[in-house]
Order: sequence, then C-alpha cells, then structure tokens
Amino acid sequence: MNPLAILTGASSGIGAAAAEQFIDQGYSVINISRRDCPVPGVETLHTDLADTASLTGTCDTLTARLQAQNGAAPVCLVHNASLMLKDRCDTTEDSALIEAISVNVLSINTLNRSLLTAMPQGSSVLYVGSTLSEKAVAGAFSYIVSKHAQLGMMRATCQDLMGRGIHTALICPGFTDTSMLRQHVGNDEGVLESLGAMNSFGRLVSPIEIAELILWVHQHPVVNGSVMHGNLGQIEH
Ligand SMILES: NC(=O)c1ccc[n+]([C@@H]2O[C@H](COP(=O)([O-])OP(=O)(O)OC[C@H]3O[C@@H](n4cnc5c(N)ncnc54)[C@H](OP(=O)(O)O)[C@@H]3O)[C@@H](O)[C@H]2O)c1
Repeated sequence: MNPLAILTGASSGIGAAAAEQFIDQGYSVINISRRDCPVPGVETLHTDLADTASLTGTCDTLTARLQAQNGAAPVCLVHNASLMLKDRCDTTEDSALIEAISVNVLSINTLNRSLLTAMPQGSSVLYVGSTLSEKAVAGAFSYIVSKHAQLGMMRATCQDLMGRGIHTALICPGFTDTSMLRQHVGNDEGVLESLGAMNSFGRLVSPIEIAELILWVHQHPVVNGSVMHGNLGQIEH
C-alpha cells in the first residue's frame, strides 16, 4: 500500500508544489481545499475549512479511509492552508478574527482530533507556519495571532504524541512567490522585488523550495518538535 499524504491548501502555491513532490515519490495524495489541486493524480476533497459542516464531512471521509487502511501505511498530514487578512490590533472585528482562527487554527484541531488516532508509527503532522510565527509586522494582526498559535500547537503536538512514533515540525517560509504574497502586496512588482531583496540571495523563495523542505522533514523524524526556517536568511530590521 502506498504511503499517504494529506495536505490542506494544495490547490495553489506551496501546497500544490508539495503535492507534486509527494506524487513524484509514489505517495497517494489527498488535497483539502475549495478548488481542485492542479497536480495530476491528486484527489481533492472539496472543503471550506471555515465551514464546520464542510470540514466535518471531509473528516468523516478521511477517518473511514484511515480506519480501512488499519495502520498499513504511514501518513503525512500537512496543515498548509491559511487565510491572510490585512488587519490591525486596534480595529479588528471579532468576526474577522474568528474567521482567521477558524481556517488557521480550529480546522487544524478538527483534523488532528479526527485523524491522529488512526495514524500509525512513521506518520508525521507538519504545520506550515511563517516567519510571522515568531515575530510580528504591522498590518497582519489575525494572521500573526494564528501563526503564533500554530507554533504552540506544534510544540504541544510533539509532547502529547510522545511515544507514538509520530513526529511533528513547524515549517516557516519566508517571502515565497505565491498568490497569497502577491495578493497581500496588491500585485505590486516593485514591492515584490524589495521583499525579494530582504535576504542573502536577493530573490523570493520558490514554492518548490518549501515543498522539498516539507518532504524532507516528513522523511527525517530526528527534527521532531523543531521550527524549520525556509527564508534564504532574512534580513531583520
Ligand atoms: N507565500 C508566502 O510568502 C508565505 C510566507 C510564509 C508562510 N506562508 C504560508 O504558506 C502556506 C501556503 O500559502 P501559499 O503562500 O502557498 O498561498 P496560496 O497559494 O494562496 O495558497 C493558500 C491555500 O490555502 C487554501 N485555503 C485558504 N482558505 C481556505 C479555506 N477557507 N478552506 C480551504 N482551503 C483554504 C487555498 O485553497 P482554496 O482557495 O482552493 O480553498 C490555497 O490552496 C500558508 O500557511 C501561508 O501562511 C506563505
């Protein structure tokens, strides 16, 4: 039986690139998002992570599949999808914060609660955080709150799964050339260029570089509990 990779947000960007890496390695790959994954061979379970009924249906489907496998193949569960709003600590409505937390934090908890029991030894739970899991910038309040929460979730996952033979890590991309970053800066090529200049290599990170890191982390349980940075050496101001 093929090993299985379950990724949220593999319809674009880093998630789609990671799905391709796993397909190339012979994994069965399931994407959880509203749109299809563009990578041939990937199955999409159409899901809105902000919608409890939608997510519950997907969890039921996945739970039944894992139970049918009866632990025969390890699983790589990648919590990659995120909602990034432009907001501030002094104006954010609770409803907006709840939406961001629903996608970026609560859906992770729901998936973990549903799937972890049936995940065998050799599996992993990988979180795609951000440079903003460990620092803050202005104008991304709910995103920063939820990315910091993901750091805590990863550390708690490491402790709570002690002895299960399942490892975890938080993968923290820097400025990566995806639709999320482009939308956040209003598709301004000048801003993208200046963000690319904020590291040792003078360019944006490629989604493939983060995808390779995700696959590598899954294959190396020695990093259990670690924060893995993928930012080309970001200049700090
Ligand atoms: N790009 C960067 O510079 C950067 C930097 C640091 C961290 N990251 C992190 O990298 C991860 C991937 O982001 P990306 O840059 O690859 O962005 P992206 O290309 O915009 O992908 C975001 C993914 O999240 C999914 N998603 C968002 N809201 C969802 C919802 N309500 N339900 C289901 N899926 C949802 C989208 O799927 P659908 O729209 O199809 O639902 C999409 O597949 C995120 O966790 C992000 O925070 C990115």
